[in-house]
Amino acid sequence: MSPTVWFLTGNAGKLVEATEHLSHLGYVVKQLVVEGNQLYEPQAETLEIVAKSKISQALQHLPDEFAKDDMILVEDAGLFVSALDGFPGIYSSYVHSTIGNLGIIRLLNHLETEDTVSSASLRAAHFKAVAAIWRDGEILIGEGICPGHIALEPMGGSGFGFDPIFIPYDLDKDLQPLSAGNYGEHSTHGKTFGGVDLATKIKFSHRTRALQNLFNQLPSA
Ligand code: IMP
Repeated sequence: MSPTVWFLTGNAGKLVEATEHLSHLGYVVKQLVVEGNQLYEPQAETLEIVAKSKISQALQHLPDEFAKDDMILVEDAGLFVSALDGFPGIYSSYVHSTIGNLGIIRLLNHLETEDTVSSASLRAAHFKAVAAIWRDGEILIGEGICPGHIALEPMGGSGFGFDPIFIPYDLDKDLQPLSAGNYGEHSTHGKTFGGVDLATKIKFSHRTRALQNLFNQLPSA
């Protein structure tokens, strides 16, 4: 029987993305729920430190069904805007719940130009995800980046978090990201992550890349 990957997250969007990706690799994914809001999100300097803290917390709350070969997965991500020196970065969660998508757009208002390629460079940003897995006492870490730019206004109502304001750069035929203004085999055609379906987001997503990087370090299920 395949080992179960217990994903510690309260974010339904992240659970759907990880399940979609890992089920293709033969893993069963279940949400690890900690009753009564006992988990805390440390305000640390890097996503890696946050991910490791989440693993330590998860180990205190293992479900009764947790089997010997099962694994714990945690993931932490952020949006890093180049013109803001990487802000909101590790503060993404707080910034999203305070100034929100419109607040980020307002911070970049002075970077509008008529030329779409210059605009995409000036408004460059990337998502970064760090995924960590605990297996039999050992912790492995994977990371993934999705480069792109911040839209001029929110577009598209699906997805979560900053999805409606983030437009990923195109990907080449090997799914490698290109730079601003280059056309690739794979494109959202100017749509934000909030304006594309889940399968498309997964192709581009920082989370997919972090999980790929992580699960490449493990034998297949
Ligand atoms: P977390 O701490 O990993 O849950 O994420 C930090 C913040 O970044 C949250 O506000 C999320 O909504 C946002 N975020 C993380 N990943 C994504 C994504 O794939 N799309 C949009 N927003 C994201």
